[in-house]
Formats: sequence, structure tokens, C-alpha cells
Amino acid sequence: MESVPAAPSTPRSSASSRSALTDSGPAQVQKLANIVASETVRTATGLSELDRVLGGGLVPGSVILIGGDPGIGKSTLLLQVLAQLSADLPVFYDTGEESLEQVHLRADRLGIAEADIALLAETCVERILALAKPQAPKLLVVDSIQTVFTESLTSAPGNVAQLRECASMLARFAKATGTALILVGHVTKEGAIAGPRVLEHMVDTVLYFESEASSRFRVVRSIKNRFGAVNEIGVFAMSPSGLKQVKNPSAIFLSRHEQPVPGSAVMVAREGSRPMLVEVQALVDGSQLHNPRRVALGPDSQRLAMLLAVLHRHGGVGLGNQDVFVNVVGGMRVSETAADLAVVLAALSSFRDRAIGQRDIIFGEIGLAGEIRPVPGGEERLAEAAKHGFKRAIVPSGNAPRSRRVGDLDVVPVARLSEAINAIE
Ligand code: TYD
Ligand code: MG
Repeated sequence: MESVPAAPSTPRSSASSRSALTDSGPAQVQKLANIVASETVRTATGLSELDRVLGGGLVPGSVILIGGDPGIGKSTLLLQVLAQLSADLPVFYDTGEESLEQVHLRADRLGIAEADIALLAETCVERILALAKPQAPKLLVVDSIQTVFTESLTSAPGNVAQLRECASMLARFAKATGTALILVGHVTKEGAIAGPRVLEHMVDTVLYFESEASSRFRVVRSIKNRFGAVNEIGVFAMSPSGLKQVKNPSAIFLSRHEQPVPGSAVMVAREGSRPMLVEVQALVDGSQLHNPRRVALGPDSQRLAMLLAVLHRHGGVGLGNQDVFVNVVGGMRVSETAADLAVVLAALSSFRDRAIGQRDIIFGEIGLAGEIRPVPGGEERLAEAAKHGFKRAIVPSGNAPRSRRVGDLDVVPVARLSEAINAIE
């Protein structure tokens, strides 16, 4: 475990303090070239999948917002992190949602009930700060920000003004003391307004927990990170004894059918710096509706409508009287345009009731003119597909190596949608 530098002992400390925010004196004008950036010291959380998303560990004084649906596992994950860190550092957990007994029961289930964690069940932010301060924690978790309130406002906890004010009071404490602060935020279905989104600009790092309710896998994704790359993901599997890290998650989202099935296409997505094999499924079926349905879970519905128009115009296949449903197996959210080609070919495969080869891998962006555009990280995606035993890759010509082979993988370059359609005939 890496060490953490002591917090500045005097409010106005040396020039080596990390940022202007930790200095409480009046700001001074300085020349950019004269700023000496001290290396950001990070504390490993003991969960390398989480560290990866954070950009290498917790940064002292940084503020992290972790959002996600209720019940997805935020409290469980954080309790595990607190327990890990508590072996070396003072840590503090405030819960506004559960009683201390409930926290204890959970810790028991996770096998960490002995951990040296300072616990508090309190929702008044002034009291939280007053009680946390003397403990001088290196990590403070507030679960959840929606439950806390400040006495300085009369509005109810969870309302936007309360969220903002409480978060900024906690953040000021974090910056002033060098405590890493993690705020938990629930995202409700309609949640954009009252949810933690209103806090995103105030914090250093925003992480979201995602998954499909039925899946035991949980993905933590960085949406914003002042101390690392965004869209990096960490993968965990739920178990009765808590979240377990999935260190090599590349193929967990494949459903591995016995027989090839129509409507399924496998692609290599790139999540942050990590290539992942994901299965795109489509169901195309005669519609009873005047306006046939276009439903996309995973990719974007608007994009799906656009892709179907391109398929009609440049592939000569009209699905105007068909309902089209597209899903990504395992609840992964694939937002990159590299999924375009897999989406269209999966839809076509379902429509024609003809399966795509089980050892075929497909990726590429589709343009409005029916052209197949190259995507970033082509080489890496092909290498990942080859590693998992795929035999044929239908990819943009711009991504195909000159030799047209990567290991045992045959690369079929396509420049136009019509060529891609021919390739799977
Ligand atoms: P919880 O951590 O309370 O979710 P959140 O804080 O996001 O609302 O987890 C929800 C429930 O799932 C809880 O009853 C414990 C259970 N759970 C497990 O049994 N194993 C696990 O690995 C996780 C993450 C949760
Ligand atoms: Mg919780």
C-alpha cells in the first residue's frame, strides 16, 4: 500500500501543497511555468478494479461521487473498501440510510465485522463534520448525500439546494484536511433533476455503478475524472459475501450459444483502455403497429433508427413494417459507434432468420452514406478477438492490417455496408 503524505500542518503551508484549494490564504498570481506540480500521491484501495477506475487509487483531498440505482451494491462496495483501508489508515463511514446495526449485519455477512471503521448514523452535515474532524480520517464516506441536510437551509434533505450545500461543505472539509471524500448518490429512474447529476460539476471524480438487475456482474465506470481517464471500467461479480473482482472480464458478456442463433453478432467494444467482447442481439418481427417499435437497450434508440434508415437506403433492406429490438447481453451499455455494424448485421440476421457464423467478430462505424468508417483501437480489438478464438473479423478497411490476418483470425475488410452484408451471406 502506498503511503499518504501528512496533511499540511499549517493552513498556509509550503508551495508543495497539491493545489490552490488546499491553501486557505488569499490566492496569488503565478506564472504557469513556475508551478511545480508535485506527483499526485495515491492510496491503493485494496480493490485493484476500483483503483483502475479511479486512475490508480484514492487521491488525498479528492471528492468522488458514486452514483447508481438503489440496491445495486454501492454500500456493499464502500464498506469493503473502508475495511481494506482501515488496516492502515483511519477511515470514517457515515450512514444516513441504515442503522448501525444494519451496517454491522452487513459487515458480518462480508466477514469484515472486526474492521477498525469509525461509524456514525447521522444526517445533519454540521454534526457529521464536527464528529469526523477529531478522528482525522483519510477516507470519509457519506452514504448517501441525498439523506444529509444542513441546518442553514430549511428545505428537505435531497432537494437540489440541500444537495449542493451539503456537498460543498463536505468538499471544503476534504480539501482543507486532505481527506478523500466519497459521496454516495442514488440515481432514480427519472432522476436527472433531483439525483446526483447536479453535483457532477462540483466533484473531482464521478463514478457510476451499472448492470442489469438480473446480471450478477457489476460495472463501475468513470464518467468524469480529474485524476485519471474517463470511461475506464472496473468489473465485479456479486456474491453472498460481497463484491468479488473480475480481473479478466473480457468475455463475461458473451452468452455462448450451443448452436449459432439468428439475430446475434459479437463485437469487440473498448471500454476505456480495456477491450471487451460483447454480444449484440436483435429481434426483428412483423409489427402490428402503425409506428413500428425501435427499442435499443445498450446502444442508443436514435442511432438505431438512423442505422435502419442506412440499411434501407444503402443495403436495400427495408424494415419499415417491422418492430426492431436491440440489446447488449449482460446489461453492458455500449455507446461507441463501433457497435454500428454489429447492430445492423444482427438486425439483418434476425430479419432473414439466418445466423452469423459463431466464430465471426464484427465492428465498425456506419456513416450516413453507407460507408464503413474505421474506429479507434482496431489493432487491439482484433488481437482480443484472436485471443478468444474467433476466426473471421468483418471490420472497416481502415482497421484491417495489410496481411489480412491476426494470428488465426482472418480479417475481411469492408468499405461499404453492402460489402459487409455480402460477407455474412
Ligand atoms: P447495497 O450495497 O445495499 O446496495 P446500495 O447501497 O447500492 O443500495 O446492496 C443491495 C443488496 O444486495 C443488499 O441486500 C446486499 C446484497 N448484495 C449481496 O448479497 N452481495 C453483493 O455482492 C452485493 C453487492 C450486494
Ligand atoms: Mg446503500
